[in-house]
Amino acid sequence: MQILVYNTPQEWATAAAEQVQGVLSSKPRPVLMLPTGSTPIALYAELVRRYQAGELSMAHALSFNLDEYVGLSIDDDQSYHYFMRHHLFDHVDIRPENTHLPDPTLPPDEACRAYNALYDQYGPADIALLGLGHNGHIGFNEPGTPFTNRTAVIPLSASTLEANGRLFGDRTDMPTSALSVGPSMILESRRVLMLVKGQDKASILKTILTHPVTEDIPGTVLQRHPDLVVIADTAAASLL
Ligand code: GLP
Repeated sequence: MQILVYNTPQEWATAAAEQVQGVLSSKPRPVLMLPTGSTPIALYAELVRRYQAGELSMAHALSFNLDEYVGLSIDDDQSYHYFMRHHLFDHVDIRPENTHLPDPTLPPDEACRAYNALYDQYGPADIALLGLGHNGHIGFNEPGTPFTNRTAVIPLSASTLEANGRLFGDRTDMPTSALSVGPSMILESRRVLMLVKGQDKASILKTILTHPVTEDIPGTVLQRHPDLVVIADTAAASLL
């Protein structure tokens, strides 16, 4: 495991972008697993900046997102389809047909089967980028999710409904379940990059790295990955 700690938001974003660029430049057909949430936004902005400066291309890359809400339209501004277009896909040269997210418009079980079939065809990821939920969730794998899961329908926990509900104008509009790539798919990735920022993540970051591995704290499973890289800011790393 490597833990890399940065003082400023720009240093943090540069370090995360370097990791992605390293994978993009090392393979003819790199596969990226991508997160949403507030944490990766600065990384995506740095990738867009590099593309616009002619320093980076994603034309040969494939992406698989970690998760999507059940039941939102892909044009809903709270959907992860929308998030990815808004923050990354519309501003770089990745081909739209090479970007994949679980399909929230299909019956959920069918969406999981379809996503697993696609991933089996193109995966595993060369690098899986992850954010971290306050309860230790990775993707939308909430506490109690079996580590053996592949893509599955996950009921959202009360703390996630509380944390993400603020983003929906009316909290009752927030879906109560999500489609998430499972821990087993994350672990298959060649490298895992944990992106973490802010004092509010310091305690859970310490927990996932030091607590005995348990399905009750999904992020602890990352201790089993042979190539885990943590990109943290000083606040998130303050308890390590
Ligand atoms: C959501 C996403 C997760 C993400 C988490 C943390 O729940 N499904 O993949 O890691 O939020 O979000 P933030 O980065 O905003 O703290």
